Amino acid sequence: MNFKRNRTLRSTPSIRDLISETTLTASDFIAPLFIVEGTQIKEPIEALSGYCRMSLDLAIEEAGALYRLGIRAVLLFVKVPEAKKDNTGTEALNENGLMQQSIRAFKKKVPELTVMTDVALDPYSTYGHDGIVQNGLIVNDESIEILAQMALSHAQSGADFIAPSDMMDGRVLAIRTLLCQNHYTNTGIMSYSAKYASCFYGPYRTALDSKPGFGDKKTYQMDISNRREAVREAIEDVKEGADIIMVKPALAYLDIIQTLRQKLNTPLAAYQVSGEYAMIKAAAKNGWVDEREAAIETLTAIKRSGADLIVSYFAKDFILWNENE
Ligand code: PBG
Repeated sequence: MNFKRNRTLRSTPSIRDLISETTLTASDFIAPLFIVEGTQIKEPIEALSGYCRMSLDLAIEEAGALYRLGIRAVLLFVKVPEAKKDNTGTEALNENGLMQQSIRAFKKKVPELTVMTDVALDPYSTYGHDGIVQNGLIVNDESIEILAQMALSHAQSGADFIAPSDMMDGRVLAIRTLLCQNHYTNTGIMSYSAKYASCFYGPYRTALDSKPGFGDKKTYQMDISNRREAVREAIEDVKEGADIIMVKPALAYLDIIQTLRQKLNTPLAAYQVSGEYAMIKAAAKNGWVDEREAAIETLTAIKRSGADLIVSYFAKDFILWNENE
């Protein structure tokens, strides 16, 4: 007789719910939003099926809807017209730039919602790189000065969290120092600490028209084969003043999420990036996987591996699926 009856705990939906080890709730999510100039614009992003670039007026309506669904944070990205791009990200510092205007409008219209902003030069750069380019190289120290000013400008506009995604060395310290010097002591930093040089950012780069004009990002984003390096990066970011650390992408890096969760006590975010979303969407469109189940399975895996927060293009759908159950 077999006395070990493991299947008892799987026998009904309510028992399965009772012993479930991982639960995802709306406040685990950060919803990315892509903003474009203009009004009443909602442009579908082909590579991110179901996702749109929106003008500020519509993005704010969307943010209100997200907040009512229980989502507590958005991560803002702006699409910069080609004519406003240069090598040093001049437009990134424009106090009336689209990002700065958006932050002010979000904080005015949906003040309870936590506004996080991406800090990197790529959407503003003629070269599509995250830092300044000199003689074909992405230079570090010149870049972090601009990135810190960009962060300050976001804080001055009312951003709650700055999210540097550039992977330059010392940028968290540069940002924290400049924020403190200007008395922005309550502005948080969510650092993309372990950001890998991944192919899964492809759809995002089409959304913002920010593909690198030459070369790749391997001299600043991490080598996909490294794990211990992620620990070093994360520890340094925390020492430099990061409040939240991040692993990106998520699904191909669950071991990194798990390791950082074990080694550090800092809140940990994971970014389920555009390519991860697009793969599920594409397979679902062909009828090869069920979209909802694939989204839930991958998001659960990300949380189970140790992420406290998940940036995901499925954020809103996830809540709606749960509500309509
Ligand atoms: C900008 C940035 C990128 C993403 C977030 N911030 C792209 C990149 O580094 O090339 C990717 C997000 C996604 O793919 O969903 N530095």
